[in-house]
Amino acid sequence: MYPLLLVTHLLAAIAFIGTLFFEVVIWHRARLQLTDTAQSTADQAIAVRSRKVLHGVVLLLYGAGIGLAWQHRGTLSQPLASSFGTLLSLKILLALSIIGHYLLLAYWLTHARLSNARASWIRRSILGHMVLIVILAKAMFYWQP
Ligand code: HEM
Repeated sequence: MYPLLLVTHLLAAIAFIGTLFFEVVIWHRARLQLTDTAQSTADQAIAVRSRKVLHGVVLLLYGAGIGLAWQHRGTLSQPLASSFGTLLSLKILLALSIIGHYLLLAYWLTHARLSNARASWIRRSILGHMVLIVILAKAMFYWQP
């Protein structure tokens, strides 16, 4: 079961990070070459599609993550006792902070307070969190102070 959860977790993480990477690093600049109308049509189309796809991806990512974490519950019950436990706990906290970002995004959307600047800030912050999460996910196995 563990290898299946791990592969699911890794593939979903790649899809999630890849989508954010595309939006922040590629699309953010590429859209400037289009007319205003084309920009907003494409923005809308990408937002609708990526929201739909990411729902499934996030379910798989967090579902498999919880399954993996369950196997490490002994270590997680004493997060400061080992560097693996500390880094894994930090990684999980960052993953929870990403959920917080999406809740904030949903709040801004439903209260018509989502400006372009806020949307762009939130995507960059999520991508930054993910980069840290991936570094922690590898460091927890290799970093022994
Ligand atoms: C944005 C969210 C997340 C991302 C991008 C992410 C990414 C990753 C990556 C890249 C790995 C390394 C996998 C490998 O090298 O084979 C990993 C491992 C792991 N993740 Fe996550 N993760 C996320 C959320 C979570 C959550 C919410 C949990 C638990 C509640 C979790 C628990 C774990 C565990 C226990 C491992 C170690 C698995 C192992 O190699 O034995 N992750 N994660």
